[in-house]
Amino acid sequence: MSVQSYIESNRERFLEELFDLLRIPSISADSQYSGDVRKCAKTVADFLTAAGAENVVLEETAGYPIVYGDKIIDSSLPTVLVYGHYDVQPSVPDELWNTPPFEPTIKDEKIYARGACDDKGQMFMHVKAFETMMRENELKCNIKFMIEGEEEVGSNNLGTYCKNNKDKLAADVILISDTSMLANDLPSIDIGLRGLSYVEVEVTGPKIDLHSGVYGGAVANPINVLCEMIASLKDENNHITIPGFYDKVLEVSQADRDAMGKTPFSLNEYKKHLDIDDVMGESGFSTLERTGIRPTLDVNGIWGGYTGEGAKTVLPSKAYAKISMRLVPNQISDEITDLFTKHFESIAPNGVRVKVTPHHGGEPVVTPTDSIPFKAAAAAMKDTFGKEPIPTRGGGSIPIVALFEKELETKTVLMGFGLDSDAIHSPNEHYGVFNYFKGIETIPRFFHHFAELNK
Ligand code: BES
Ligand code: MN
Ligand code: MN
Repeated sequence: MSVQSYIESNRERFLEELFDLLRIPSISADSQYSGDVRKCAKTVADFLTAAGAENVVLEETAGYPIVYGDKIIDSSLPTVLVYGHYDVQPSVPDELWNTPPFEPTIKDEKIYARGACDDKGQMFMHVKAFETMMRENELKCNIKFMIEGEEEVGSNNLGTYCKNNKDKLAADVILISDTSMLANDLPSIDIGLRGLSYVEVEVTGPKIDLHSGVYGGAVANPINVLCEMIASLKDENNHITIPGFYDKVLEVSQADRDAMGKTPFSLNEYKKHLDIDDVMGESGFSTLERTGIRPTLDVNGIWGGYTGEGAKTVLPSKAYAKISMRLVPNQISDEITDLFTKHFESIAPNGVRVKVTPHHGGEPVVTPTDSIPFKAAAAAMKDTFGKEPIPTRGGGSIPIVALFEKELETKTVLMGFGLDSDAIHSPNEHYGVFNYFKGIETIPRFFHHFAELNK
């Protein structure tokens, strides 16, 4: 048999096994699901063992375990470290799902389930590609797996694990499928990810909720104040007003921007897909530039006062918001968090108190395109799709990628097979059956080219 026919003849099982993973609600953000997160780790470990991995262990951390496994065939061959995550985002609001989030369902050739694309579907392609290479005697490089369960909550324990296990994790490249490509007929490879600063703010006015008639107009309303403070964080050009925010932003050269401008992209389809009549962002930049090479600031949630049924006349004591800032090279997450905190405290009017609490963060990355790993990924994608992949900049964040560079001194290739329209983190997340199998097909090709180019 060949790699191709092995995949063909095991199609149904490859889907069924992914479904087994998707049925486990491994939501890392919600402690109610901690048993399921651990169960998922165990299931991934069992699948790795069944596929032929050795030294499979659940590495305990201060949080959820990291699944490690490897297959070292010849120490003179290059080593590929596969990283992925088995945890998923919360599925809420569940009532917006057309089918239950943890009962994977195929509709229109797409697998619907939380984690179908991010990242169980994409991570599991590597397990099945590995199985295929093992059975077909086609494993051309050594392989190590490191699959974590805390990516969606900031990978707080993975940095320490990497620092303490440098030899064990030593590799020539880190291969990750946790990003998207432009379209099923437009293969692309992300060469950049944004960094992240995430803060929670609390604005406090009077010590208790007050009658909004008796006191309204005379006492600062924390929700009104918070809205004004947030509104002032961007000017009329959607430029962020925090002093120093742009100081370290790497201005991308006109040549690189021109190259980005050639990326196939339809603004009309983009708007249609999102059901919006126009886009909005920093003036002077295109939509792809706004998500790819420019930083931004967004409120992710805001609450306070009365939100129950009917009307309650209340002047609230407190207002809250969760705010994320996506960062680009060479901004530094901790510095941006500090700048935000100082600025936000400084714009608080008399009559309220402000508290800023930082959450997780991460550094932006740009990966090289003239490297052997990138060339191997591009060649593999070309074999599968018949087209040279386009280098793109992803707007999302995988904070651990910068840490891999720092702690393991190893470069990453982001060979993702999702689509931006897969609704990751949203209701009705899905992943194309096409994409799942194209990924499984492409990964052995990566190993082949990576071994060849390293000769
Ligand atoms: N896989 C995503 C990141 C991603 C998606 C990058 C699509 C590029 C394209 C990852 O699981 C994710 O959601 N990361 C979080 C950051 C984390 C610290 C919570 C994000 O980007 O919000
Ligand atoms: Mn992910
Ligand atoms: Mn995610």
